[in-house]
Amino acid sequence: MASHDGHGHHEDTGAFDFAEAAPRFRERADAEADRYRRLAEQLSSPSDRVAADIGCGAASMAFALAAALPKARIAAVDAEPTMLDLVRERAAATGLEVRAAQASVDDREALAEAVGEPADLLWAGHVIHHAADPQAALDNLAGLLAPGGRLAISEGGTAPQFLPWHVGVGRPGLELRLIEAGSRRLENERIAHGATPLAYGWNLALERAGLTDVRTVNELVATPAPLEGPDLDNALKTLGNKVGWFEHHLSEEDRTAWAALLDENGPDWLGHRRDLHHLGIDTIFIAAKP
Ligand SMILES: C[S@@+](CC[C@H](N)C(=O)[O-])C[C@H]1O[C@@H](n2cnc3c(N)ncnc32)[C@H](O)[C@@H]1O
Repeated sequence: MASHDGHGHHEDTGAFDFAEAAPRFRERADAEADRYRRLAEQLSSPSDRVAADIGCGAASMAFALAAALPKARIAAVDAEPTMLDLVRERAAATGLEVRAAQASVDDREALAEAVGEPADLLWAGHVIHHAADPQAALDNLAGLLAPGGRLAISEGGTAPQFLPWHVGVGRPGLELRLIEAGSRRLENERIAHGATPLAYGWNLALERAGLTDVRTVNELVATPAPLEGPDLDNALKTLGNKVGWFEHHLSEEDRTAWAALLDENGPDWLGHRRDLHHLGIDTIFIAAKP
């Protein structure tokens, strides 16, 4: 039985514990509702009747799709029961019809049962890279599409950055090392699960899954310094979460620097600074079933 360290990790494997992270997903969902509404409008077509949000977390896309496609059947699918509780809670609160169903992207039959019928639109946000075999997971999802159906995956892109290269606490490059620690955490998770890495880009992976017309949408987030109000809150929360998630992969020196920067009562608190910005790119790959 794995032990937990209070930051969403299994201490013995370094693997990510999504159940423990559920409240953070819920919190972020409210902040990102507008973005998902816009994306759902872009990705959906009025004739779509069956759609699903795979690896849904708090299911922001499922709820945005339910609003954009009121006549469609929408499933929110996740391997983690805690996320599905969150989906049911949000469905009750919003009155939107989103069906919660449990399945892993690694399990073709469970996925087919969860989605229920050939899908016109499948969305998988930041989940395929967690699969035991990402190519097999894409093959599974492609197999669920109706002819002409689309699969959209949010993968790749760049990690958001908020800090100047040197903040005067710890060594320069602190945030770059945090991003690198995230990459090592993912690698550890892969090793712990004996997972097969994808050794090529997502566009090729979608083609190998038998899909065509692969296109890429890059969404730029570029909020200049100084961050204020909700933008500053988001930066502080995002950095705090990442330091918690990736701390096993940070040096003692960097952990000390982050503790000072994230200490609301200390003199180095990031919340006092006027030189934080937000720069990041979210990449979405969209492909169709012939
Ligand atoms: C990084 S979160 C992304 C959540 C949401 N899609 C988003 O973009 O914000 C990954 C989600 O995938 C789920 N997940 C992880 N591995 C999975 C798997 N093998 N099959 C299905 N869901 C999985 C987790 O429980 C979590 O809800």
